[in-house]
Amino acid sequence: MKAKLLPALLRCVAFSFAVATFTPAHAATIVVYGATGKIGSLIVDEALARGHKVIGVSRTPEKVPTTKPNFSIVAGDASNLDSMLSIIKGADAVILSVRGSGPNNFPEESLDAVASKVFIAASRRLGKDAPRVLHLGGGSTLYTKGVLGLDARPSTEGTAQHGLVWGHWLALQNYRATTSVKWTVFCPSGGYENDGPRTGKYRTGWDEVLTDKDGRPAGISQRDMAAAVIDEIEHPKSIGRRMTVGY
Ligand SMILES: NC(=O)c1ccc[n+]([C@@H]2O[C@H](COP(=O)([O-])OP(=O)(O)OC[C@H]3O[C@@H](n4cnc5c(N)ncnc54)[C@H](OP(=O)(O)O)[C@@H]3O)[C@@H](O)[C@H]2O)c1
Repeated sequence: MKAKLLPALLRCVAFSFAVATFTPAHAATIVVYGATGKIGSLIVDEALARGHKVIGVSRTPEKVPTTKPNFSIVAGDASNLDSMLSIIKGADAVILSVRGSGPNNFPEESLDAVASKVFIAASRRLGKDAPRVLHLGGGSTLYTKGVLGLDARPSTEGTAQHGLVWGHWLALQNYRATTSVKWTVFCPSGGYENDGPRTGKYRTGWDEVLTDKDGRPAGISQRDMAAAVIDEIEHPKSIGRRMTVGY
């Protein structure tokens, strides 16, 4: 009887071990700058739910709980090349979902503009082993019937808002001026300041705002935004260009 039970027991132990250590075939190591932010934290949760390994980056990692499986948090600064190089080396993808103004609110001082340049420098340093980057951009850098949102809704020079929205524009142009960097700038079509559900259903586009049947910007919930970010990481369709999403 004991001899018959032993192989079954071994199979059971082996199965339990396999379940406990299961990782999907497509699992990637994803670095998320802005893991503590509104969008970044949802991107972290979406990636973890799909079995990816996530390294979150924060200026104050000691404040971030790390109890989730496959999640770790490190100290880092998206404006510092040495810091970024040490964190992103060996990763498959980097998400830049950050926000920050400079002392004069100049667009070129905004964290998005600076971080894009830092990533480009890091990518050049890492060469063929560099990860791809998906950088969260601003919806006002999209066009509506050929008119740039930044021109249609002018901001006041010298304000933080002006520096941030035009900083997104500069970041996009920095990536566009490269040929070797694997980049995607991800600009939702608008209507995203809500706590809407994750539907997993959305449309994608390129440089034009996606609109609804009444011609208004087609909004998207922040959870679906996060789903779309990880969809693009898993099934790349927009490397070397800007993309948009909306319902
Ligand atoms: N919220 C939206 O619905 C929405 C829609 C479209 C686009 N976006 C764009 O998405 C990006 C993120 O937006 P959000 O609303 O999630 O921002 P948020 O909640 O204000 O989060 C900003 C993040 O930036 C990080 N950060 C600031 N300075 C940093 C530095 N020097 N190095 C590394 N990380 C730094 C912060 O992390 P620590 O404080 O932990 O360091 C924080 O997690 C922005 O560029 C925004 O324009 C947002």
